[in-house]
Amino acid sequence: MGDPLHTRACDLFGVRYPIVQTAMGWVATPELVAGTANAGGMGFLACAVMHPDEADAAIRRVRELTDQPFGVNFLMEQPGADRIVESIVEHGVRAASYSRSPNAAFIERMKKAGVVCVPTVGAARHAEKAVKLGADIVVIQGGEGGGHTGVVPTSLLLPAVLDVVDVPVLAAGGFHDGRGLAAALAWGADGVAMGTRFLLTAESPVPDATVDRYFAAGVADVVVTREVDGMPHRVIRNEFLDRLERGSSLTRLARALASGLEYRKMSGASIPELLRSALAMRSSDKLTPTQTLMAANAPVFIQRAMVDGRPADGVLPSGQVAGLISDRPTCAQLIEGMVEQARARLAALAG
Ligand SMILES: Cc1cc2nc3c(=O)[nH]c(=O)nc-3n(C[C@H](O)[C@H](O)[C@H](O)COP(=O)(O)O)c2cc1C
Repeated sequence: MGDPLHTRACDLFGVRYPIVQTAMGWVATPELVAGTANAGGMGFLACAVMHPDEADAAIRRVRELTDQPFGVNFLMEQPGADRIVESIVEHGVRAASYSRSPNAAFIERMKKAGVVCVPTVGAARHAEKAVKLGADIVVIQGGEGGGHTGVVPTSLLLPAVLDVVDVPVLAAGGFHDGRGLAAALAWGADGVAMGTRFLLTAESPVPDATVDRYFAAGVADVVVTREVDGMPHRVIRNEFLDRLERGSSLTRLARALASGLEYRKMSGASIPELLRSALAMRSSDKLTPTQTLMAANAPVFIQRAMVDGRPADGVLPSGQVAGLISDRPTCAQLIEGMVEQARARLAALAG
């Protein structure tokens, strides 16, 4: 019998283990991606919150830190997405992950260059559509997953997607250990993808004060809100979220405008570029005008927690799995521990 932990995902990505570190804005830095890659997993660099020049420099930095394959995540509607595609191709990045509105021309360009295309989906019909558009492998994110998320839990989404696509599927949303990996493989997935678990590793840049809030959270403290940017976002309930939820529509508007101005400074994007990107998101996600205006809230509020280390003053995107995690291993300790535990579970099942 072959090694059950050597899946089609390992072959596509060229990695040892079917364990993926997903992209997280300001968290999936070159250090975290390289830490994952050097430990035999597949890491994705979070370029959705970067200017194209910054993304190019970050890709180069990963290259300096590892000779192993890694991936890049970006939004196909973000300002300068075409330049990020060129950086991916030019640097021979192994895979690109994306969600929301896929751009057929970008996908074609990347596939021609041999880049593995990895969309994340939250519904079976989106998985089918993504495969038609050229996906080589699909990540499903169940509703318990962190950040922007859907309503279908992993336990229902995974079999539904496995029923309708033939490409390899990675399960995301709620995974943190080798038991989950064994379960996903038993379901028929080709591996797992994890965000929150990797946020809480030694190579993650998140300041201790913020990490402590993740450790303190119970499963039920991780809730879904639309108050951040109008879309369902899974976050840890904190003082800041309470304040957001108490605000009137006028304070919501004032906050959105202030974030827009702050984001313009942060991103270096011009007003026409930001408007184009907001309008593209508006039509792809069918957002209302208020939701469109709120788009800049997420990056501004998340940075306060993830970069500035002020967990009470910002947003803490998280999967519910934070409620089960209370340690900060290195990526190598995490991945080796998961592999060992998954092998033990699979061996026990095989008798
Ligand atoms: C702090 C944080 C930031 C995230 N940022 C992004 C992002 O920039 N792009 C993206 O596609 N997904 C993002 N996500 C979603 C994750 O990539 C991943 O799909 C999710 O965390 C999986 O669920 P889990 O947290 O239960 O492992 C984020 C999640 C977290 C927790």
